[in-house]
Amino acid sequence: MTTIDTATGKEAPAEISSERVKDIFSSIAKKYERFNAVSSFGAYKLWLAGMAKQAPIDSSHDVLDIAGGTGDVTFTMAREKRPAHIQCTDLVPEMLEVARAHYDEGASAGVPVDFQVVDAQDIPYDDASYDVITMAYGIRNMPDRPRALAEMLRVLKPGGVLVCLEFSTPPNGLWRALYSFYLKHLIPFWGGLITGDREGFVYLARSIKAFPDQKGLAQMMRDAGFVDVTWKNYTGGIAAVHVARKPE
Ligand SMILES: C[S@@+](CC[C@H](N)C(=O)[O-])C[C@H]1O[C@@H](n2cnc3c(N)ncnc32)[C@H](O)[C@@H]1O
Repeated sequence: MTTIDTATGKEAPAEISSERVKDIFSSIAKKYERFNAVSSFGAYKLWLAGMAKQAPIDSSHDVLDIAGGTGDVTFTMAREKRPAHIQCTDLVPEMLEVARAHYDEGASAGVPVDFQVVDAQDIPYDDASYDVITMAYGIRNMPDRPRALAEMLRVLKPGGVLVCLEFSTPPNGLWRALYSFYLKHLIPFWGGLITGDREGFVYLARSIKAFPDQKGLAQMMRDAGFVDVTWKNYTGGIAAVHVARKPE
């Protein structure tokens, strides 16, 4: 199976991306929420609300949050959708430690959440165990995206749904050009200034540029076996929420 360097989209051994992502997220874990606010231009709350609106979660559901980081998606879904249980997972233990601390402070408003270090490309759960999978800003960081999507399909129940929030490509040429300039020149500068982690922002900008557009990601989901793939753009397509279903 071909793996890529997530900073360039070019073929490369998986370890290059995995080690870099571990380095970045283990060192910024405590500052991540600020990083998130800066990297999404403060719009992440709007996009997260859009994601929650599109997530077909009900009170009987067991939800798997992939690349859950410090728990933003998990706790938003917990508060807004009140599922029976959420499994919050991430590759980097330091990120989950922050999530666990938020949980201990009551961030899930009583919804039970368990935490586990999981590489989405090798999910240690049984086939057909979850009703809904959520994933925000995760797939872009994975060197073997087809494998990660295949793993998500495997652990979803038949008819289960993947809801994926990710940076994307503005369809309007002018907006795309402005955004591209902003990503390349301004994001590393002031992201670095605010969080002290310029390298993380250089990586962020490069990985967004190298990531497939809305249609490309939808096709990757279909290639993995998902059906009924749709997406909704946010902030003119800077971000998009894809929703995809596992066949019955
Ligand atoms: C930008 S953060 C997003 C965190 C969270 N979803 C949010 O919205 O705040 C990306 C996360 O993806 C995780 N990640 C990267 N590669 C991963 C992989 N192969 N499997 C699971 N998580 C991964 C990183 O550790 C990091 O916590």
